Amino acid sequence: MLIASRILTILLLAGKASLTVAVPFQPWEISRLVVSALPDRGTGSRDEPLNTLAVEIRDVNDYANSTDPTQCITRFSYYSPPYGELFDCTEVPYGKWAFAFFPPEGDRDPSYWSPGQNFTLWFRLMLTTGDVSFDGQADFSVGGNMRGLCSAGGICSFAIKEEMTPFYVNQTESM
Ligand SMILES: *[C@@H]1O[C@H](CO)[C@@H](O)[C@H](O)[C@H]1NC(C)=O
Ligand SMILES: *[C@@H]1O[C@H](CO)[C@@H](O)[C@H](O)[C@H]1NC(C)=O
Ligand SMILES: *[C@@H]1O[C@H](CO)[C@@H](O)[C@H](O)[C@H]1NC(C)=O
Repeated sequence: MLIASRILTILLLAGKASLTVAVPFQPWEISRLVVSALPDRGTGSRDEPLNTLAVEIRDVNDYANSTDPTQCITRFSYYSPPYGELFDCTEVPYGKWAFAFFPPEGDRDPSYWSPGQNFTLWFRLMLTTGDVSFDGQADFSVGGNMRGLCSAGGICSFAIKEEMTPFYVNQTESM
């Protein structure tokens, strides 16, 4: 009897231990990513917000009580794109999303945005409960994970390739 209960205790402890093993998070899912541009009509237009970056991303993990996507949108000019600036995404019930974009490493001229250029997207999710936040980032390139084109008139649109949607972004917890 004693032995049996000891074995049971060991089994229970073993079971508990296996439950506490770090379970990797489900990655974030980008369901939409579009970068579009109205024509650069020269010097006068280069400070106008003619470029748009729009992302729809969701979190399917248990720590989020909704799998509805958040919308992350920013408009910016050809001159001095706001690399590294933090933009808020739309509200979700479980926390706050923010995002930023960065030039590719070794960009020749980061002071001018070329439609269709490579970029890196960075996301942060801060949960409402506790001081927990998550960060994740991914690189994007036309011809790599995106496709699109510019019309003769200079209107451009690039989006994540359909076959790569949803596009997964691994997040890591940060304190
Ligand atoms: C989701 O969780 C947050 C706290 O993390 C809470 O304030 C909110 O009411 C919850 N919403 C729903 C729909 O359960
Ligand atoms: C853009 O990204 C692609 C794919 O990762 C890479 O092959 C290419 O060299 C990059 N171009 C620039 C200008 O960084
Ligand atoms: C995300 O994490 C998974 C599991 O650890 C890994 O297999 C995958 O390569 C990662 N993806 C990226 C883009 O780092």
